[in-house]
Order: sequence, then C-alpha cells, then structure tokens
Amino acid sequence: MLQGKHIVVGITGGIAAYKTATLVRLLVKAGAEVQVIMTPNAREFITPVTLSTLSGKPVISEFFTANTGQWNSHVDLGLWADAMVIAPATASTIAKMAHGVADNMLVTTYLSAKAPVFLAPAMDLDMMAHPTTRHNLDLLRGYGNHVIEPREGELASHLVGKGRMEEPENIFAVLDAFFASRQELAGKKVLITAGPTHERIDPVRFIGNYSSGKMGFALAQECADRGAHVTLVTGPVALRLAHPLVTRVDVTSADEMHQAVMEHFGEQDAAIFCAAVADYKVANVATKKIKREHNENPIIELVKNPDIAASAAASKRSGQVTVGFALETDNEEFNAQDKLQRKNLDFIVLNSLRDKGAGFQTDTNKVTIFTREGDTLRYDTKSKRLVAVDIVDLLTKYMSR
Ligand code: C5P
Repeated sequence: MLQGKHIVVGITGGIAAYKTATLVRLLVKAGAEVQVIMTPNAREFITPVTLSTLSGKPVISEFFTANTGQWNSHVDLGLWADAMVIAPATASTIAKMAHGVADNMLVTTYLSAKAPVFLAPAMDLDMMAHPTTRHNLDLLRGYGNHVIEPREGELASHLVGKGRMEEPENIFAVLDAFFASRQELAGKKVLITAGPTHERIDPVRFIGNYSSGKMGFALAQECADRGAHVTLVTGPVALRLAHPLVTRVDVTSADEMHQAVMEHFGEQDAAIFCAAVADYKVANVATKKIKREHNENPIIELVKNPDIAASAAASKRSGQVTVGFALETDNEEFNAQDKLQRKNLDFIVLNSLRDKGAGFQTDTNKVTIFTREGDTLRYDTKSKRLVAVDIVDLLTKYMSR
C-alpha cells in the first residue's frame, strides 16, 4: 500500500529517535519515497548521515541549507507529502504543533501539510501524564491528526510507565493499514466542481463571488487519497493541488465550466458540484473597456447561466451519484431540500452563512446534509479537510450501493 507514497518522517529530540531509522528503512523497503526532517535537537540523538543513507535523500533540518544557501520550502514539502509521521514526537514538538509555534522546519512543514499526519509521542511518564500534554494531544486529535499512543514500559529515565514510543514495526503497520483502508474508491471516477466563476463585463472587469475553492479542493484531495481518479473543474482560485490522481481543468466562466462538466460527466461514477457558479452572465460583453465619462448610469443586462448540476443530473445514469451544495443566508433547510429535489441530487450539503465558521474564504465549515431518502445529518464546525472526510464517507456509501 505504501508503494510510491511520499512520506515525510519528522524526528524530534528524544532517545527513541534511534528507532526511527528502522521505520525509515521499512518505509523505503515498502516502496515509499521518504523525506526526513529533523529538529536541531534530534541531531544530538541520531546522526543525519544514517537517515539520509537509509532514505536516499539529504535530511532537512534548517530553513536554509548552510553550504548552498538553498531555501528549503516547507510549502512544497507539505504539498508533496501523502502522509507525515512524526516519531518520536516530544512534549515540546507536540505543544508547538498544537499552538502553531513554527520555529523549526518540522513544525512549519506540519502547518503546511495537506496530508494526514501521524504522531508517535515519546517522553517520560510524568510529562506524558501532565494535563498540558494531554490537552495538546486532544487539540491535535481535534484537528484531525492521528496519535499513535505510546506504550507502557521501561523509559530512558529507568522509570516504568506510559511514554515509550510505539515500536517502528507497529508505526509502519498503522501507516500501511491507513493507506489500505482508504482505497475504497480505487478505480472510481469522481468529478468535482470548485471555486467561483467569473463572468466578463468588459476586457478588464468581471462579476464574481468570494468562493476560495478550499472546500472543493479538500474534496478532491480526499477522493484521490481514497484512490479515485478525480477530474477537478475549477474556476479562478489561488490554490494548488499536486496529486497524481487529480486532473485539473481550469475554467473561468459558468459556460466554460458547464462545457467541461458535460464533456466529462458521462464517464463519472459520481459528481460533486461544489462550485459557486454565477447565476447570471452579462448579455453583451463589451469588447472595449467601458468608460466612465460616457456612462453616467450604466446598465448591464444579465441573462441566466446554465444550471450545471441540474443539466448534468438530467442525463444521470442509474448508479451515478450526484452531490450538491447549498450556501444559504435564510430559510436554509427549505431551500436546501428544494434544491435537492430540483437538481435531482442524491444528497445536498448545506452551509448557512449565519453559522460562525461556515462559508466562503474560511478554513472551517459547518454543514448539514440532507439525503434524498429524507435523512438529516448534522455536523460540528470542523476544518474543511475534515468536512471533506465526512462528505466522502457518505459519498462512498452511496457509490457502493
Ligand atoms: O441554486 P444554487 O446556486 O443555490 O445551487 C447550488 C448548487 O448547484 C451547488 O451544488 C452548485 O455547485 C450548483 N450550481 C450549478 N450551476 C449553477 C448554479 C449552481 O452547478 N448555475
């Protein structure tokens, strides 16, 4: 399951660091590409030469590589990773991760990572039992990280208690099982629309909206992580997604998005319509910039854009699953239910702009899902990545019917 996977292995300054050499070896043997990042203290416990030899890549520790002056991009590494595993994770690194103290390359990469993150804590029993550490681990779990619990046993201090890092073979097994369990969509095709559309007024202006594309991109990542081939049709956004299973189709207007969707819809097993498509376009796009001097009260005539979700669903094959979104400011439930029917969707994801932490530009979302069978599923406010997990969990159930 780890064949070809990109794994960032983070090592922090604890005695268990020597065991991480075995973890790196196991990952490489299983066909994974491993990039090791060490905190400065980790280098006191195990030599970077051991780890770069085992991983076949120079170890990264600093923001800059001293002799070349090269900047190590945490953003690129965060996007490159299919998973990140921090073993051992000391109390200090756990605290930094929980509170965003990005003073080293490892925590900075963690904050940039879009991939699932695993951490294997290792520390003395009292540090492990301290409410601060427990609270920080709860925070990290709440952000969607996977904590691989430490074992009870003899510790470096010779005291006996909970704090021994899980054995490298078992950390490896957790990662392997994680990738295996997440291949439920292997061989399936999913189309996702994302972002806003821009409707031209003249060569320099457009009508748009505040959609950032974050929700649609999180869905694309989640579907691809589970093995689906994703066609991501996106309006203009400032996001990147580097995943071998995602084919990105960039469009600008609703008409272009409509065309791209109709071109690909027939071969899909499912489609998620997450884009905030402009309802109207300009009837007569000016070929030259509209000048203020000649127009005291300019009037722009608008005409309706095609409803992409509805027109795709009109040609829906049996077994094809379609999912829509409804962003509402009032009368939320009624409007969402109405769209579910009108657009012939299997389920619709409602976000209300009245809910704190929901909607455009935010990194979090709070959603309620209505299904065509009449079920209502309510979720807490979560990061858009975790909302994507909930939505794809339900999608997977529909696709396996
Ligand atoms: O009707 P409303 O725009 O609120 O519906 C929202 C849902 O319909 C979303 O899933 C959105 O992506 C989709 N939609 C579409 N084409 C449009 C308008 C909305 O696909 N022209």
